[in-house]
Amino acid sequence: MSHLLVTGGAGFIGANFVHYWRARHPDDTVTVLDALTYAGNRASLAGANAVDFVEGDIRDTALVETLLRDRGIDRIVHFAAESHVDRSIHGPAAFIDTNIIGTMSLLTAARSVWLAGDGSPHRFHHVSTDEVYGSLGAEDPPFSESTAYAPNSPYSASKAASDHLVRAWHHTYGLEVTTTNCSNNYGPYQFPEKLIPLFLINALHGRPLPIYGDGMQIRDWLHVEDHCRGIEAALLRGRPGEVYNIGGGAEMPNIAVIDTLCSAVDAAFVGDPTLAARFPDAPAASGKPTSRLKTSVSDRPGHDRRYAIDERKARAELGYAPARDFATGFAATLNWYLDNEGWWRGVLDGSYRTWVETNYAAR
Ligand code: NAD
Ligand code: TYD
Repeated sequence: MSHLLVTGGAGFIGANFVHYWRARHPDDTVTVLDALTYAGNRASLAGANAVDFVEGDIRDTALVETLLRDRGIDRIVHFAAESHVDRSIHGPAAFIDTNIIGTMSLLTAARSVWLAGDGSPHRFHHVSTDEVYGSLGAEDPPFSESTAYAPNSPYSASKAASDHLVRAWHHTYGLEVTTTNCSNNYGPYQFPEKLIPLFLINALHGRPLPIYGDGMQIRDWLHVEDHCRGIEAALLRGRPGEVYNIGGGAEMPNIAVIDTLCSAVDAAFVGDPTLAARFPDAPAASGKPTSRLKTSVSDRPGHDRRYAIDERKARAELGYAPARDFATGFAATLNWYLDNEGWWRGVLDGSYRTWVETNYAAR
């Protein structure tokens, strides 16, 4: 039996991880620490049994120390972060505060409680991104764990710094850490500022689908449940001090993802006549193709061209393998957004609306 502290557990991947862990490790205790920024959503944890939610900031070292001591926590799974590249371009300071200072605060608390204790096993698992490795050319080999760091956005630079801190706390102080660097996730509970949920919801409302630049940027798409599986494998079988790359093996240009999305929305409206009444502004409601909403907008500054993951180490050492291909994972995700309109309507009622207006009005 283990006692987990999940930071950022009200965010997209954190909430999926909490549901995943509760279903597979029912004897463990799970405490979520989340500051409920714009991306945090308590509703995403609805239905997860026996989860103790603490609203608080990872930068509050004293709070984290108290949680670790009082709850006998032996594993931290660290998701909390500012996570959206476009926001990092408009306001990098929050990324430095949360991703770098916040990670240092957590490491400080873990060190002071765990390393001053009786030497019981512990684990600090750091959830990071493939974006720390920078951008690949079309013919370059995919990112491996030994690829040199070359972050290009304020987001990826702040995540790179946090990765280095985690590494240093292991080498200098002996903290038992693992890190996973993962490719682009998609799935339930993703905040509708990222490509897939933004475009799905825009398609349902007949709003433009803003494609940055030529739309030929390549990402390696991974269903979030497979990411959770990879983190579980790293927690249970990863060697302290090691880094594992987690990917989906589904490299696709954005335009292919968007075309899949448009066709799937069209097919959903054909298959379910009630959708036309629910979403009358969708082109598909009147038999028109969703693809007519595709709109070219100016490119993201510093936009990374291609990410791809070499996941052989995770496969060999952890027995990790993604279970879903993109077609299956995307179909499940579309169904989730259609079945959970209440979740994303609640998000749209909040600060998201102002963000979209300010971000896209200028384009
Ligand atoms: P998210 O933005 O959806 O959620 C972040 C969560 O962290 C929110 O619940 C927010 O309230 C919380 N948070 C932010 N600042 C906090 C603070 N100071 N103290 C406590 N909580 C705070 O992010 P996500 O997409 O779920 O990503 C989770 C992690 O996975 C991040 O570290 C991100 O870098 C990493 N990651 C994401 C992806 C992806 O495709 N989304 C891919 C690879 C890695
Ligand atoms: P995003 O979901 O923001 O993830 P990341 O920047 O971390 O890869 O974007 C995925 C890709 O989609 C990226 O190449 C940028 C592109 N994109 C658009 O073309 N339009 C959009 O409105 C958004 C949000 C993203």
